[in-house]
Amino acid sequence: MSEVLISVQQAKKVYQMGEEQVWALKGVDLQIEQGEFVAIMGSSGSGKSTMMNLLGCLDVASEGRIFLDGVELSKLDKNQLATIRNQRIGFVFQQFNLLPRTTALDNVTLPLLYSQVPESEWPQRARECLDLVGLGERLHHHPSQLSGGQQQRVAIARALVNKPVMILADEPTGALDTQTGLEVMALFQQLNRQGKTIILVTHEPDIAEFASRTLTFRDGELVADETNPNPRQATMGEQV
Ligand SMILES: Nc1ncnc2c1ncn2[C@@H]1O[C@H](COP(=O)(O)OP(=O)(O)OP(=O)(O)O)[C@@H](O)[C@H]1O
Ligand SMILES: [Mg+2]
Repeated sequence: MSEVLISVQQAKKVYQMGEEQVWALKGVDLQIEQGEFVAIMGSSGSGKSTMMNLLGCLDVASEGRIFLDGVELSKLDKNQLATIRNQRIGFVFQQFNLLPRTTALDNVTLPLLYSQVPESEWPQRARECLDLVGLGERLHHHPSQLSGGQQQRVAIARALVNKPVMILADEPTGALDTQTGLEVMALFQQLNRQGKTIILVTHEPDIAEFASRTLTFRDGELVADETNPNPRQATMGEQV
């Protein structure tokens, strides 16, 4: 049985720039089901990050309605949005956004500070997530002691630690070389096979081929919604 996780209905977003209004989203309709792996594409300025910010409860739509797991986001106040963000959504960014003078284990533990998980369970939880991304041997390394791909895997472990319903990743391979990017995609595919919903922004068609659906934005509108019945399979290769 498929279950609707996200429902976007005529979502619009306007940014006020002094006198001028910028319509970053001009009435977007879409649905995403639990367990999907969706790539969002489109040229610079087309509204991809704006859409991700709305889905990630980092911002609210100017008009229209967005439901996450049946909850209408525009009806929530800032604190309620923050709770959903912390407990239900995992974020992965292009530049990893790890704390530099902090071990992998502590970076992954960070989101638990704002969770309901008892402190006694934090180290175990964080370790499990680092194991899952293949970094069980690198718990006490600082970001500067890890490769770019390893840092991104720490960031993915951090995104997983609160057991979110979905992962939102904005250009997660943008700062990585091709091979390392493929390893990160292999990890996303593995997580998706385990049932995690993944939504990923990318500029690269080669990266979108790993997803099972591609949404294309142009000038604030969703202009294509294509399913990919046969996604390219990434393999982990040798992890050093
Ligand atoms: N905080 C903001 N204030 C004003 N305008 C903004 C703001 N954020 C985005 N915009 C504008 O909204 C439009 C969509 O921006 P958005 O960041 O969503 O594009 P994008 O598709 O993510 O682009 P990129 O591929 O370059 O990351 C652009 O015209 C942008 O200039
Ligand atoms: Mg963007």
